[in-house]
Amino acid sequence: MGFFCYNREVEKGIIMKIVVLNGSPRTMGNTRRLLEEFRKGVEENTEATLEFIDLGEKSILPCEACNACGQTGRCKHKDNSNELMPLITEADMIVFGTPVYWWGITAQMKLLIDKFYTWHNLSYKVPNKKIGVITVGGAAVGDEQYDLISSQFRCISNFLKWD
Ligand SMILES: Cc1cc2nc3c(=O)[nH]c(=O)nc-3n(C[C@H](O)[C@H](O)[C@H](O)COP(=O)(O)O)c2cc1C
Repeated sequence: MGFFCYNREVEKGIIMKIVVLNGSPRTMGNTRRLLEEFRKGVEENTEATLEFIDLGEKSILPCEACNACGQTGRCKHKDNSNELMPLITEADMIVFGTPVYWWGITAQMKLLIDKFYTWHNLSYKVPNKKIGVITVGGAAVGDEQYDLISSQFRCISNFLKWD
């Protein structure tokens, strides 16, 4: 089992809105267990509000690079991403939880992250955010897969000018 989290600065009174994304299709699985520990820590130690989203229960269609979201701020697909994106946009912190699938994140998580392309089109009009990453896999801590996932989120965060 592997675990890592960075930019996990949940400062009382500074980070008020946290969105936790569970990218596991097994919504009550190992990833959920770790995310629940995070939730417990937040509830016991901060005044922040926390919204928990199981991506495994959502229907999100793939980004087709049509660029419609650059004009409208919404995905042309009538999928659940259009209800999730405003929650994510308003959050001070996003925690991404995903099992390792083939050295990377799950398809459920990637489908949502691809929709972040709307912020690219809208010239980065998205508030600065803290992000946390919690991942779990069968391979031991120290396996390259955790570095790969960490690097991916660091690049995404840098690109969006988040912390
Ligand atoms: C399609 C698939 C691919 C997987 N690939 C990896 C992998 O590359 N490395 C790894 O350590 N575990 C891999 N696993 C194991 C899961 O990461 C592991 O069982 C994890 O605990 C599942 O989390 P969950 O209980 O939240 O679903 C894979 C599992 C599946 C179903």
